[in-house]
Amino acid sequence: MDSDSKKRLAAEAAIDHVEAGSTIGVGTGSTVNHFIDALAKVKGKIDGAVSSSEASTARLKGHGIPVYDLNACGELGLYVDGADEATRHLHLIKGGGGALTREKIVAAASRKFVCIADDSKLVDVLGSFPLPVEVIPMARSYVARELLKRGGQPVLREDFVTDNGNLILDVHHLEILDPVALERDLNQIVGVVTNGLFAARPANLLLLGGEAGVRVVDGAGDS
Ligand code: 5RP
Repeated sequence: MDSDSKKRLAAEAAIDHVEAGSTIGVGTGSTVNHFIDALAKVKGKIDGAVSSSEASTARLKGHGIPVYDLNACGELGLYVDGADEATRHLHLIKGGGGALTREKIVAAASRKFVCIADDSKLVDVLGSFPLPVEVIPMARSYVARELLKRGGQPVLREDFVTDNGNLILDVHHLEILDPVALERDLNQIVGVVTNGLFAARPANLLLLGGEAGVRVVDGAGDS
């Protein structure tokens, strides 16, 4: 089975978590695109969605799913999004698609975060995937120097501007043994908007598509 089919399996399994009449938080990426397509098949059941990117907004609207401003909604019951890496403790690296800041905002505003991915994303230690850091443009060089001091190798993402008008530094060679502490530390650097560690607010559930179907990781043990 190819990785795209595994992503689709995980995305379709997330539909079971969608509650009638609710507004769903929707992430960004190729796995989430499968989720949006599956959501379209049950769109009569939901009120609408809050989106984490212009790309997901366009796909949701293309399916005729109403997209709301987060400020017009209270707490969301469910957020569904992908990841670039995930651990058994449900800590994540996200932002491969550059939507990390809006993703982190919608995740923070949601009671339950269901993370969907193919099973290659499960790792023991985060950091093989370069950690995305969204940076205010004028702070790019200063933030890069601060990241070097912390042992990372920041690389400017070429020809890329976030939906918020900012830049991304992809930080290589970090071995992330304490994701909660590193997430907090990097967010203290002046000029950083946010970083792609989702550890202070981890996922609540990880659905991993694989050869044998969907594996559920809930932090307490697999099922
Ligand atoms: C976008 C993200 C994505 O969720 C992450 O990059 C995974 O993407 P994909 O589902 O395409 O593998 O964080 O900012």
